[in-house]
Amino acid sequence: MKVQYLGHSVLMVETQGTRLILDPFIEGNPQCPVSVDELPKVDYVLVTHGHGDHIGNAVEISKRDGATVISNFEICNYLESKGVKTHPMHIGGKFSFEFGNVKLTPAFHGSSISDGNNVIYAGMPAGFLLESNGKKLYHAGDTGLTVEMQLLRDELIDVAFLPVGGNFVMDVSDAIRATSFIMPKKVVPIHYNTWDIIKADTEKFKTGVEHIKVECLIMKPGEWINV
Ligand code: NI
Ligand code: MN
Repeated sequence: MKVQYLGHSVLMVETQGTRLILDPFIEGNPQCPVSVDELPKVDYVLVTHGHGDHIGNAVEISKRDGATVISNFEICNYLESKGVKTHPMHIGGKFSFEFGNVKLTPAFHGSSISDGNNVIYAGMPAGFLLESNGKKLYHAGDTGLTVEMQLLRDELIDVAFLPVGGNFVMDVSDAIRATSFIMPKKVVPIHYNTWDIIKADTEKFKTGVEHIKVECLIMKPGEWINV
């Protein structure tokens, strides 16, 4: 599994001949080094919750590429009304796709979609556990620290992408505690420094997680890793 960080909470994943994009906030994302036009063709678009900095360009990308959106039931209902092909799931549910398994995990946050003057209920926010080619990736979505994360320790996660920017989500010290709950092999901080309100000291995060013997990768937008 190859993973590219595209800033904020955006990940591009290539595995088993399939390309997935998670939380495709491309346009308006000051950290994203590529435009929607420059994105390669994707097969699946995964959306953790309805906020604009996560649903992002999901409609445009999935329509362009004929990609399937994997998200919660409510977001999928909304996207189907926009002509997007979807695979609805919900918290705790797991499904086997041709590239591997996807499971939705709990996230403590909000979830709504602003469509013109309407605010649409977008179900419970979620994280994703993605299992492919013998490796396991966790994208926490937007969340505060929750004890539910302790359940993830048994999953033996290879790489966890955790929000650390504070204000809307966990800050660095809570993300260190989350890492101690999950105990992944590697952890990557996300959802920080996109705007001033979510500035974070990732060196402090790195030091904190290394203290509990978890490897920290601070990825630059555009950078790839092999998982
Ligand atoms: Ni959010
Ligand atoms: Mn967010």
